[in-house]
Amino acid sequence: PQNVGILAMEIYFPPTCIQQDILENFDGVSKGKYTIGLGQDCMAFCSEVEDVISMGLTAVTSLLEKYEIDPKQIGRMEVGSETVIDKSKSIKTFLMKIFEDCGNTDIEGVDSTNACYGGTAALFNCVNWVESSSWDGRYGLVVSTDSAVYAEGPARPTGGAGAMAMLIGPDAPIAFESKFRASHMAHAYDFYKPDLASEYPVVDGKLSQTCYLMALDSCYKGYCQKYEKLQGNQFSMADADYFVFHSPYNKLVQKSFARLVFDDVARNASSVDESAKEKLGPFTSLDGDESYQSRDLEKASQQVAKPDYDKKVQPGTLIPKQLGNMYTASLYAAFASLIHNKSSSLEGKRVMMFSYGSGLTATMFSLRLTEGKAPFSLQNIAKIMNIEHKLKTRTEFEPEKFVELMHVMENRYGGKDYKTSKDTGHLAPGTYYLTHVDSKYRRYYAKK
Ligand code: ACO
Repeated sequence: PQNVGILAMEIYFPPTCIQQDILENFDGVSKGKYTIGLGQDCMAFCSEVEDVISMGLTAVTSLLEKYEIDPKQIGRMEVGSETVIDKSKSIKTFLMKIFEDCGNTDIEGVDSTNACYGGTAALFNCVNWVESSSWDGRYGLVVSTDSAVYAEGPARPTGGAGAMAMLIGPDAPIAFESKFRASHMAHAYDFYKPDLASEYPVVDGKLSQTCYLMALDSCYKGYCQKYEKLQGNQFSMADADYFVFHSPYNKLVQKSFARLVFDDVARNASSVDESAKEKLGPFTSLDGDESYQSRDLEKASQQVAKPDYDKKVQPGTLIPKQLGNMYTASLYAAFASLIHNKSSSLEGKRVMMFSYGSGLTATMFSLRLTEGKAPFSLQNIAKIMNIEHKLKTRTEFEPEKFVELMHVMENRYGGKDYKTSKDTGHLAPGTYYLTHVDSKYRRYYAKK
């Protein structure tokens, strides 16, 4: 099979959200800390009737319906998530209900977990399957679904929630350049979830930022080496049209792109212009550690990077800024933003993708876009995702109500024998929701 990649996409996110400027005010932090300091506009969260399973059910059902895919045509389904609902039973098995009802139980794949990286692992598994000798000609389906919630404190505004569903197969408008990809994997305690009684992670915020940037450097270096070995010519940022990043919050994305600009200067890439060399050259003598800590370098590189950031990164920032960190779905929701913003002008473009999961696992890979034929065309994908409408029809919570909900969810986490309020007034028709959990922890869902 040729040009294996993403044929179709659907995004679902809870319609419940809180504005970051209102949260700033409520938390009593300085004005601009979340909106400018973190670069976030708004944060989505699950109300008590939604969770990663219901979001996954909604995204998958909607994708199958809107692209008119017969559930029997799915041969592999992989789920990426770091939101633990059950330590043994995979989220994938919950989603099987959709397929069982249509008589299809012959579907490979289970869940992949490592912080925000699980979606990428799931995607690679599906792409590799289609490219392999065990492929049976049917589609792969990738689901990334997460609810990111943090304890009260500085990390709380970097929460978010959402699910992505992606259909995988040959002749895709979003094709993998499978040969060019580089990973960086290591052992770190930057963000982890050792307390099984709590949904909240233990997080070393500063360390996680440095780990992210170190992994980015390492992956970019590896990507360039592999590209140069295979293509026989140098790779630089000028060879890519768009850069899409895993987005815990937008400020880190700004810093990441600037870091790549600095990397090109440091490796003396031929595409780097004189003025960038002049401004960033002096910093190339810093050793690794110093360069991650240098505020002057950060400021200078962000300034040099700004015009290209606006062109090559900004179109892929809409949803992460509006929803917050969706963990495994974050990178793909960022990519969905690019399709939404530029769908009619992406023919032939190369998109660099950077996936990061704490702990840590990271990969840089690239996609080659073509317009494609309906229903699997970029324009149809943009139309079906209908992002503007989904963003516009959300319900904003007051901070008091949001905090109250977080307390309800804390108490309920890991619990049994409860009914949800069944208040689904805010949900769009077709949305799945949690109705109750019985005395044996079994979860029940209904469709609005
Ligand atoms: N106006 C404008 N900017 C402001 C203001 C203000 N009033 N106040 C603060 N800022 C800026 C700061 O200068 C800082 O910017 P900088 O990073 O360019 O220096 C930024 O806002 C954040 O302020 P800090 O004081 O550094 O924030 P704090 O330490 O309180 O928390 C953090 C930020 C560490 C990101 C926290 O939210 C966190 O731990 N989040 C979860 C971890 C995370 O997402 N890590 C990313 C990779 S791992 C993953 O994906 C989960």
